[in-house]
Amino acid sequence: MAQAFIVTKEHRRFTEFANAVRKEKTIGICHGDAGVGKTQSARRYANWDTLEPYMNEWGPRSDVDAAFYALANRSRTVFYTPEVLPRPKELVREIGYWHNKLDSCIEEHQRAIGKVTGQRAHTHSFLELLIIDEAERLTPMALELLRDQHDRTHVAIILIGMPGIDQRFRHYPQLYSRLGFSHHYRALGRDELLFVLDRHWRRIGRSLDPEDFTDAQAIAAIERITRGNFRLLERLFPQIARVLKINQLETITDDVVEAAASILVIGD
Ligand SMILES: Nc1ncnc2c1ncn2[C@@H]1O[C@H](COP(=O)(O)OP(=O)(O)O)[C@@H](O)[C@H]1O
Ligand SMILES: [Mg+2]
Repeated sequence: MAQAFIVTKEHRRFTEFANAVRKEKTIGICHGDAGVGKTQSARRYANWDTLEPYMNEWGPRSDVDAAFYALANRSRTVFYTPEVLPRPKELVREIGYWHNKLDSCIEEHQRAIGKVTGQRAHTHSFLELLIIDEAERLTPMALELLRDQHDRTHVAIILIGMPGIDQRFRHYPQLYSRLGFSHHYRALGRDELLFVLDRHWRRIGRSLDPEDFTDAQAIAAIERITRGNFRLLERLFPQIARVLKINQLETITDDVVEAAASILVIGD
């Protein structure tokens, strides 16, 4: 990610949604336009940027392990992105792989605090939530397998996808009847857009003043072009910096924003 994670209102809403799905041990759908921040929110919720590389490269034991075990214990969530049209066997194998790794870490933590003693039992699963990103990639067979896993283990599941994915699931009554929550992940609201813009402005050594006429016009242009979409903002800003540099300009005006936008292919 190009910039540090920002805890937005939408991220807080996602967290509440995920906590609810988990508490109810149900299946939830999170849908929203491409680029609004669904994947980042989910990875953050699962602490996946920290846990994934750690679990994957699990080498010799070291002093830092305990911190990762404790994090896994708090998280109890697997984040998984399927391939396009995943083969059922692969899907089950890969999810099983992360599930096992996470369980092992959690068990180590439980052992450290004295809640687990003796040999590893391999019978208890600590996993509470499985988040599947890009869920439109799932075939009917894959959905059926997930539904079956949910029925057997009561693990909560969140399926993340594009707008309309909730409608698609209507065609699978087995799954649809088990859906507990549907959550719409929205683009940034105006206040938050201003907050993000302020950061961007400062990153290139300028300060943003929404009361200032020139800044207000630039903000309006950015609002119109990006519609509060995180990814579009991320793509627009390097271009703005470029336009400023090439033209040896100091101020981000609406003209600069328009020029920057014209270099981008926006509208996906
Ligand atoms: N909370 C956030 N803080 C900072 N940047 C973010 C945040 N959410 C999204 N982004 C930026 O927007 C881009 C798109 O986000 P992503 O989660 O991939 O969207 P989606 O999954 O909805 O298509 C990310 O690559 C990142 O640069
Ligand atoms: Mg995504």
